[in-house]
Amino acid sequence: MAEKRESIHGQWSSRWAFILAATGSAVGLGNIWKFPYITGENGGGAFVAVYLICILLIGIPIMMAEVMLGRRGRRSPINAMRHLASEEGASPHWKYLGWAGVIAGFLILSYYSVIAGWALAYIFRAASGSFVGVGAEGIGTMFGHFIGDPEALIAWHTLFMVMTMVVVARGVRGGLEAAVRFLMPGLFILLIVMVGYALNTGHFNEGLAFLFTPNFDKLTGNGLLIAMGHAFFTLSLGMGAIMVYGSYLPSKASITKTVVIIAAADTLVALLAGMAIFPIVFAYGLEPGSGPGLIFQTLPIAFGQMPGGVLFGTFFFILLLFAAWSSSISLVEPAVAWLIENHGMTRKSAAIWCGVITWFVGLGTVFSFNYLSGEEFRLFGKTFFDLLDFLTSNVMLPLGGLLIAVFSAWIMRPEDAREEMRMGYPKAFALWHFLVRYVTPIGVSVVFLRAIGAI
Ligand code: PFF
Repeated sequence: MAEKRESIHGQWSSRWAFILAATGSAVGLGNIWKFPYITGENGGGAFVAVYLICILLIGIPIMMAEVMLGRRGRRSPINAMRHLASEEGASPHWKYLGWAGVIAGFLILSYYSVIAGWALAYIFRAASGSFVGVGAEGIGTMFGHFIGDPEALIAWHTLFMVMTMVVVARGVRGGLEAAVRFLMPGLFILLIVMVGYALNTGHFNEGLAFLFTPNFDKLTGNGLLIAMGHAFFTLSLGMGAIMVYGSYLPSKASITKTVVIIAAADTLVALLAGMAIFPIVFAYGLEPGSGPGLIFQTLPIAFGQMPGGVLFGTFFFILLLFAAWSSSISLVEPAVAWLIENHGMTRKSAAIWCGVITWFVGLGTVFSFNYLSGEEFRLFGKTFFDLLDFLTSNVMLPLGGLLIAVFSAWIMRPEDAREEMRMGYPKAFALWHFLVRYVTPIGVSVVFLRAIGAI
């Protein structure tokens, strides 16, 4: 019986503990750093509309599937997939889905840590009053100098990686649960304060119109793929992070309610970030499509001008750091759980191994903003960082999600899925099953084919 199964790594203390941890994983740099800049690069409204549709029709059903598989497997994603496949009479090769997730997690963490390092550095800039009275141009120059200095970036990247591995070594459940409980609401409140500031820029409506007025002529096939990829990235889907968290979920908890709460919180944070940033972009005549530096070039202008800006700015970057921290630990948890299960490693040595490897890969991202930023070091016009981001968010995660959908709805016996889902209403199960069986796989495939110009 599935109920009797227990993860050797323990369980969350309650459903709420899982919600906090999974929201901690979902809400991160993806919402506050990435969502605004890719929205800016892809023309705004239509991109946001596709992203929201993907969250609803693809993201939520796949998140439910991942939690369900994790809870039924009660092991790291690699072992859970192997075990569930044998239980369902399918090929043991399904374990490679777990492997692909582990690799995606390493690759994402390698650059995630570098960008989280930027947030870390900006805490000190904000606190020391570096933004006070500095205009848009000065803030831009400051950022340019910062990313042009590889040694500084490496130092911050190292610090963040160490912070991540310390928490992973102590066990995800003990480490950040308490912090997330207070910091998530704090982040939320600060974003509302920033939206309040944006209301007074005189360009709030322009910002809103940019975000919410869809103009589908502006959306390319590639933009469509980026919007879908971001739905996976922002909800931490397609690589086993949510699956491994699901494996620690108590058997009785309702998967549907839990997942809807997480997805709603995540989406709200992203939209608030957009509403805080774009009015500033337009008020200061900045370029919405200016890339990964967007929040570091916009919000500091606001912090430099508003009353109490030193305090707000410092808090903002501290909260951003925590949001990134609670996401980064989930990126290596599938690998760490597997190393413990299959290689008898202690949590601590598993964390050190993972940290060292990802730290090295991260150097490629550090150099993408300085030594290797020139045209001669680009492939298809993309830097190492751009390529890594594209490969993980737009290829690996959606493919992983597609296979998770295929496994849950085509390989797994519906009665097994139904038993694990424990939904009160038969119609709700039927709807979920229909979505993962048809809508998700077809949706993801269509977006892939459109992006390569095949349709
Ligand atoms: N969801 C995180 C964010 O939006 O910042 C990033 C992430 C974490 C992606 C964990 C994937 C993952 F497994």
